[in-house]
Amino acid sequence: MEKHLVIGASGQLGIELIIGMQTRYGIHAVVASDIRKSNDKDVNRSEFISLDATDIEAVRKTLQQGGFTHVYHLVAMLSAKGEENPIAGWDLNMKSLLNVLECAKEGLVQKVFWPSSIAVFGPNAPKIKTSQDTFCDPTTVYGVSKVAGELWAKYYFEHYGVDVRSIRYPGLIGHRSQPGGGTTDYAVEAFYRALDKKPFVCYLDKDEALPMMHMDDAVRATLDLMEAPKQEIKTRTSYNLSGCSFSPSELNEEIFKFVSDFKTEYKPDYRQKIAASWPDSIDDSEAKNDWDWKPKFTTTKLVEQMLEGLKSIV
Ligand code: SER
Repeated sequence: MEKHLVIGASGQLGIELIIGMQTRYGIHAVVASDIRKSNDKDVNRSEFISLDATDIEAVRKTLQQGGFTHVYHLVAMLSAKGEENPIAGWDLNMKSLLNVLECAKEGLVQKVFWPSSIAVFGPNAPKIKTSQDTFCDPTTVYGVSKVAGELWAKYYFEHYGVDVRSIRYPGLIGHRSQPGGGTTDYAVEAFYRALDKKPFVCYLDKDEALPMMHMDDAVRATLDLMEAPKQEIKTRTSYNLSGCSFSPSELNEEIFKFVSDFKTEYKPDYRQKIAASWPDSIDDSEAKNDWDWKPKFTTTKLVEQMLEGLKSIV
């Protein structure tokens, strides 16, 4: 029987992924782990294990005792926070990944999922429909750690046969959990301000388009990639993945259709420079060809679903 461990389960993606896996595989097929337990009552229907992913002995013991077949290793310091703490970001992102890859090499788990990001791209990559294999020259520590992590993933696959699979996520948007420390986080905050009837102050320029994705698409992509037959996974660094793409002013327009007095003010800070170094949109032909990826959410549908979802929980 398959048993799935999510490491970093209390973060934005972890919460949504656990709920998605509970629906697909059952509550007892999924175990959450993190250094702190989430308050989400749905997540907490599954078992929780307290785990510091930077401690390889603790990771090894958890995998040995749990009999897990799949590990989703989501621990990371994101782009904006990473720029404030470059060495801590590098240490956390790389150490925790290598711990999981070493344990997989020892045969303690059959499949590993590890998220990469649009942050692998830098100012010299084409901005529109950025392709899978374009030049990666990231300007953030987060991006540097993701490029290095992708190469480590490929290295462990090629040298040790570790079945590690990965997606370069765009900015992720869902109503069940909030992001922290990223550059794309503004898009989630906009919805909270809209429902609070408060003005939204955006830290990016109004025309700074970025690739984005609804959480339901992200979770479905992750689980579909993990279920795909091994021979179909041709990219062992990380797959480009595209959902939709919008700028803060386009998001404002879409929210305005539902919340008529919604208004965004623009006060760009250091995060604008990070966003400007990333693509506006992504070409995900490889994911489409190799494992039949197809996004379901347009920007309009994402906005509608996000507002409905948030209203249902507040
Ligand atoms: N959401 C991430 C960030 O903004 C990008 O993958 O840092």
